Amino acid sequence: MTTAHPDVPAVAVDAPVLEVRDVHVNFAGRQGLIASIMGKTAPSARAVDGVDFSLAKGEIVALAGESGCGKTTLARAIMGIIKPEKGDVLHEGTSIRTGNIRDYRRRVQMVFQDPTAALNPRKTVYELVAEGLRVHKVPGNEEEQVASSLSRAGLRPPERFYLQYPHELSGGQRQRVVIAGALALDPEVIVADEPVSSLDASVRGEILKLLMDLRADLQISILVITHDLGLAWTIADRVVVMYLGRVVESGPTEDVLLRPMHPYTKALLDVVPEAGGTDRPILQGEPPDPTRIPDGCRFHLRCPVVASGRAAELGIEDRCRGEDLALRELGEGHLAACYEADLQYPQS
Ligand SMILES: Nc1ncnc2c1ncn2[C@@H]1O[C@H](COP(=O)(O)OP(=O)(O)O)[C@@H](O)[C@H]1O
Ligand SMILES: [Mg+2]
Repeated sequence: MTTAHPDVPAVAVDAPVLEVRDVHVNFAGRQGLIASIMGKTAPSARAVDGVDFSLAKGEIVALAGESGCGKTTLARAIMGIIKPEKGDVLHEGTSIRTGNIRDYRRRVQMVFQDPTAALNPRKTVYELVAEGLRVHKVPGNEEEQVASSLSRAGLRPPERFYLQYPHELSGGQRQRVVIAGALALDPEVIVADEPVSSLDASVRGEILKLLMDLRADLQISILVITHDLGLAWTIADRVVVMYLGRVVESGPTEDVLLRPMHPYTKALLDVVPEAGGTDRPILQGEPPDPTRIPDGCRFHLRCPVVASGRAAELGIEDRCRGEDLALRELGEGHLAACYEADLQYPQS
């Protein structure tokens, strides 16, 4: 498969580097625990409720959606930190349940939102970057590997940082140390969960630029998780929008952000913060609660198409309220799960 977009490198036909297939993650939650102690049952939180997508070599995909929609839970399932109730994660075509998990943990690296929490405050930058090399017993000259990773992550000259402690660095430099630690292991994939939302607005662009350089220079695939579609616009080839544990729309960034099909994506676009980074709730109505996923389209209680009466006019309201629906390809590589979009884009 090749892409017509001149800035995006052609993507190989091989199996995707990472594939998420119908992944479900449930949490018993506090209410569930209390109920089970009392011998009752309570609905569990369906935090991730049947998600499919893939990440190709050298591709940057943004996984977007407001707080609580299941992004971090999905990332943890992808990393093998939590085991899905159902579904599977495949690395180069092999399930991570049966594959070599040690090798996988080296090849797929995670970068968290808050570098201060991710870095042991009692270790020097050198030790922090060397840690993964030691855990994975990576052969070769350790100091050279640490130096080149720091340098690659933009901390130059690297020796200047060896003996520094995290508290001596800025937020942006700390996130660079985290990224250097990941790079030391020569990863194929970086899963970055809100990698810039704890940083000052002034350094966010630099860290995003670094991630884009890693893709361009090293062909690293990146899954970047964000609540900010502005960030997705800057960095991603493709956008996957999640609502209440499901993907509601996905496709090439330009298609999804310039011609959104799902009312939820449209609502998210209405609140793209100018400078990026607010996590304020969007839309009217109940905030999404994965212990109470509504019937029908899970967005219908907050959907402007339903609320305005347009769904009734179009004769789809009953389905919006009562019939669950799957993603359908409504444009080339552009998928949405919406009855109104089905009527508007009936090509397939
Ligand atoms: N360890 C957990 N135990 C119980 N519920 C959880 C746990 N982690 C997340 N959740 C719930 O799962 C849902 C999705 O959370 P999360 O994946 O963190 O969303 P996001 O990263 O998109 O903000 C939320 O309702 C959250 O409260
Ligand atoms: Mg999260």
